[in-house]
Amino acid sequence: MNSGTTVDSITIRQPDDWHVHLRDGAMLAAVLPFTAAQFARGLIMPNLVPPVTTVEAATAYRRRILGARPLDSGFEPLMSCYLTDHSDPDEIETGYQEGVWIGAKLYPAGATTNAHHGVTDIGAITPVLDRMERIGMPLLVHGESTDPAVDVFDREAVFMETTLVPLLNRFQGLKVVIEHATTEETVDLVRAYAPRVGATITPHHLMINRTSLFQGGLHPHLYCLPIAKREHHRLALRRAATSGEGCFFAGTDTAPHLKGAKESSCGCAGVFAAATALQSYAQVFDEDGALDRLEAFMSLNGAAFYGLAPNGATIRLERRPGRVHPTVAGGEGEGVVFRGGEELPWAVGRAQS
Ligand code: NCD
Ligand code: ZN
Repeated sequence: MNSGTTVDSITIRQPDDWHVHLRDGAMLAAVLPFTAAQFARGLIMPNLVPPVTTVEAATAYRRRILGARPLDSGFEPLMSCYLTDHSDPDEIETGYQEGVWIGAKLYPAGATTNAHHGVTDIGAITPVLDRMERIGMPLLVHGESTDPAVDVFDREAVFMETTLVPLLNRFQGLKVVIEHATTEETVDLVRAYAPRVGATITPHHLMINRTSLFQGGLHPHLYCLPIAKREHHRLALRRAATSGEGCFFAGTDTAPHLKGAKESSCGCAGVFAAATALQSYAQVFDEDGALDRLEAFMSLNGAAFYGLAPNGATIRLERRPGRVHPTVAGGEGEGVVFRGGEELPWAVGRAQS
């Protein structure tokens, strides 16, 4: 496939999305079909209002997701729990041992959407991290500094230096996923600590840089956290994703918000990436001559990191120009689809079991 010949289709094991915001209620019902059409499993983010902090809340949320699935869908939600300063190690362990959740999410308090109940001081969750290290439960990290004096484009790098590296060195057996990696320094850090550390990479961070947000005017639907960085970072993310290295895997960070909440004087962070995720990842791998490594990134590496078998079903991607509808009706409004309405060079077929 790297020999200069053009491949017109590729069949891979059905992928998993290792970072999904499905929301709840009408929005959940509106967006879930897009994730379920492409992905067999999704790691569901717990930043609801109120956040998913208990076994009971995660069990109930999982049930609501199952209830919102399209009739023919076997999509499997894998849950996570939201850490706060008051998280109880016994509760965290119970949810893990009972198979209710597969990881716990560390949001530095205030770092992103619905993160205000997050962790204010890593010291507060030391007993939780000790326990997670002992039982082999992965910690999922939103890696951005919350110091308001830190430039928004430097928040990931500062967090890695001041918080994550000390944490990795203190908890040397803890499995960690750096969610939505956006910088060259982060991918180097992941490689240095692999295989116990991995990272998800979104389709949008592989396709846009920080200039894209302002190209010809302000593009609120490309605004997410961590914010897209300079071009050299985007290129480093592309090298990481397409490398085939086991520590990098797909996580779309699809984060739908109502259009009005994004096109606002104080717009929400989040890109609704679900409907065009696989088309975008396939395009990136094709452009970089790495279609033969697409399956590792999409369907194998993440499952291996979490100790799960890869999916048995397959999905076919075709080099066939297509368009996805620009918006999705979601309750009291609509969500704007990443790359919606644009001509995309790759299209997704139906999954085959
Ligand atoms: C996410 C959301 O809207 O829930 N937003 C985002 O910009 N990515 C939260 C997150 O993952 O940071
Ligand atoms: Zn997210």
